[in-house]
Amino acid sequence: MSRVVVTGRVPEAALEKLRAEHEVDAWTGPESIGREELLRRVAGADAILSLLTERVDGELLDAAGPQLKVVSNVAVGYDNIDVRACTARGIVATNTPGVLTEATADIAFGLILMATRRLGEGERLIRAGQPWKWGMFFLLGSSLQGKTLGVVGMGGIGQATARRAKAFGMDIVYQSRSEIDSAIAAELGARRVDLDELLTVSDVISLHCPYGPNTHHLIGAEQLSAMKSSTYLVNTARGPIVNEAALAAALREGVIAGAGLDVFEKEPTVHPDLLDLENVTLVPHLGSATIETRTAMAVLAADNTLAVLRGEQPPTPIG
Ligand code: DGY
Repeated sequence: MSRVVVTGRVPEAALEKLRAEHEVDAWTGPESIGREELLRRVAGADAILSLLTERVDGELLDAAGPQLKVVSNVAVGYDNIDVRACTARGIVATNTPGVLTEATADIAFGLILMATRRLGEGERLIRAGQPWKWGMFFLLGSSLQGKTLGVVGMGGIGQATARRAKAFGMDIVYQSRSEIDSAIAAELGARRVDLDELLTVSDVISLHCPYGPNTHHLIGAEQLSAMKSSTYLVNTARGPIVNEAALAAALREGVIAGAGLDVFEKEPTVHPDLLDLENVTLVPHLGSATIETRTAMAVLAADNTLAVLRGEQPPTPIG
């Protein structure tokens, strides 16, 4: 029997699977586990099931010890994990692609609708008790039909967002490291372009690329200036892909029309300049937040853990 440390609260279905084969030490506190507590708990662990709020770096791996075999992230993004440090120590790192694709695309499209139709503004206005009545020019937004969606990062979530956009009558362009499957491109009517072209032709831009050194501040003042003043930007990927200070300035000065953000540069802090702006919708990293999706993510992470501890190939290794 091996020892599995779970760094935060996860659905019971995943814990049951782990407990059937191993000793499980799961953090159940209401707050995130603190760094000191985490370093102490992982000592002697054979496996770590990590949440994206925990940094898994060389210090943590060393604190666990040489018997550690697997780090299973309960997220598709793994910028919280130092994968090179894992590889250097012979530790397998895994993530949870696929199971959160549709839920995250739903939130991306929800933000597209909220931003373009000014739903957040309308909701805030009513809750603030402000007087209003139907008016020909009251809270006018922008239609999506016939407009162009630019998808940055055309993996599963980008494609699922594009599929929703297609159903809303949008044209699709995308920027990605590689061409997508030609049948899917044809079905979506999606055209691959470079980032410069995407920025200039898109009416709505949705970010779906992974975060790393190559995508840090991929969208900054220069890229925002390249967009049309009628463009909306949506980010459900990772906060630091966008320079938040530059975005706030662009939104304030009318460089772009609006934005919808599910992720932030320094979560859970939100850049104070964004908080005062009406033309940005802010939601607290809810991309995968459905019961079904979070359960599927945790169960997949448990399956990854169990496979490695059995000496088998995990379903979804990183890389
Ligand atoms: C992920 O899996 O990377 C998501 O951000 C979690 O919601």
